Amino acid sequence: MAVRERLRVESRGMEKHDKQKLYREIAAELGAVLEGLEDPIAAMASCACILKERLPDASWVGFYRVVAPGLLRVGPYQGPLGCLEIPFDRGVCGAAAREGATQLVPDVHAFPGHIACDASARSEIVVPVFAPTGELIAVLDLDSYALAAFDETDQEGLERVAALLRPAMRENYVPLVSGGAHEGARGRGH
Ligand code: SME
Repeated sequence: MAVRERLRVESRGMEKHDKQKLYREIAAELGAVLEGLEDPIAAMASCACILKERLPDASWVGFYRVVAPGLLRVGPYQGPLGCLEIPFDRGVCGAAAREGATQLVPDVHAFPGHIACDASARSEIVVPVFAPTGELIAVLDLDSYALAAFDETDQEGLERVAALLRPAMRENYVPLVSGGAHEGARGRGH
């Protein structure tokens, strides 16, 4: 079977308009939760919960935060144990952070450098999350056990989610490294 056909057959994706409706509901629910919230951890935790509850194909939903130059560390998530740290030069999350652009990966085995936190994961989407200042503050990562579980409708919906999170991702966010991100990076020899 041709790869494109196999991807289409194995994808358990919903009809486009159903998925668009689902993302509209997710955006409304998340928007209500985030109203006036300026706490990035509370925002990321609530977002991971809503997405995991609402997206049937997602096996892992969560955040990797920028904690030092070129370094991501796991944040709030739902699903099996995730990798602790990911440098910008590794994996799908690293590519999204490096390029500041969404990575839509229908088959993770075809993505050079993919990091298999969960060996059963088959497809993935990673969306950058920016602070109000415009700096990259985190990436939002979703995995699925289904091949090609995510498509352009998910990309659109999740980029909207990232935009909704933006006001909450403020500078009161303190990376979990002593002395701030730069000193923390030097301290570990990066
Ligand atoms: N697969 C990701 C790593 C994070 S886990 O999927 C939770 C990557 O390649 O960046």
